[in-house]
Amino acid sequence: MNFLEKMKTRYTVKKYNPQGAISSEQINQLKEILNLSPSSINSQPWNFVFVNDPGVKEQLAEASYFNKGKVLDSSQLIVFQVIKNTEDFERQIEENLPEGSVNYYRTMVKPKGEEAIKSWLGHQVYLSLGVLLSACAAMGIDSTPMEGIETDKYDEILKNGAYETLFAVVIGERSENDSNNPVVTPKRRLESEKIILEV
Ligand SMILES: Cc1cc2nc3c(=O)[nH]c(=O)nc-3n(C[C@H](O)[C@H](O)[C@H](O)COP(=O)(O)O)c2cc1C
Repeated sequence: MNFLEKMKTRYTVKKYNPQGAISSEQINQLKEILNLSPSSINSQPWNFVFVNDPGVKEQLAEASYFNKGKVLDSSQLIVFQVIKNTEDFERQIEENLPEGSVNYYRTMVKPKGEEAIKSWLGHQVYLSLGVLLSACAAMGIDSTPMEGIETDKYDEILKNGAYETLFAVVIGERSENDSNNPVVTPKRRLESEKIILEV
């Protein structure tokens, strides 16, 4: 199956097979893929928290609204977090990035103010979501991106100091009777002609 065919068959899983499993080799590959995710000036303002403790997973499921069942039945929950504090971020890039990149941030991003900086940092983390979902499609792993979670509660449970939760993803194996499977519920998209333009 070529990549287009894989993207046609991937979908947001609404019901997981609780017996489904993902190999540790695949999990390790996904960790490496996330670490390779591109970001503006290579800013990497993220943490990706792989939840392995069943007790913590259960607590997070309780803080996941209508996504609770997906969290419980999935094989792996991954929480996407962004660095909270601008000063911490600036220290991180000063320590890790070339002068030119830091200067881009100082002259092009920082003058726009705190709100714009936060939004820019968040955009970088969302890019890594796209990378992960595409990687899952390529690897034949089922996935569900989830903004429908209580991010404040996630932060209280995970206690990951300098980082705060933006969204999460669960991955695993679809249940045979997941009604969101495109075989049952065809994918809905705007007409290609309305969104892909040629000039
Ligand atoms: C950032 C983001 C957040 C989402 N949050 C949820 C969610 O909380 N629960 C859920 O079931 N689906 C969620 N979705 C899935 C979307 O509804 C889905 O991607 C969209 O309807 C397209 O369908 P498809 O992924 O099956 O092709 C989310 C998707 C994205 C990209």
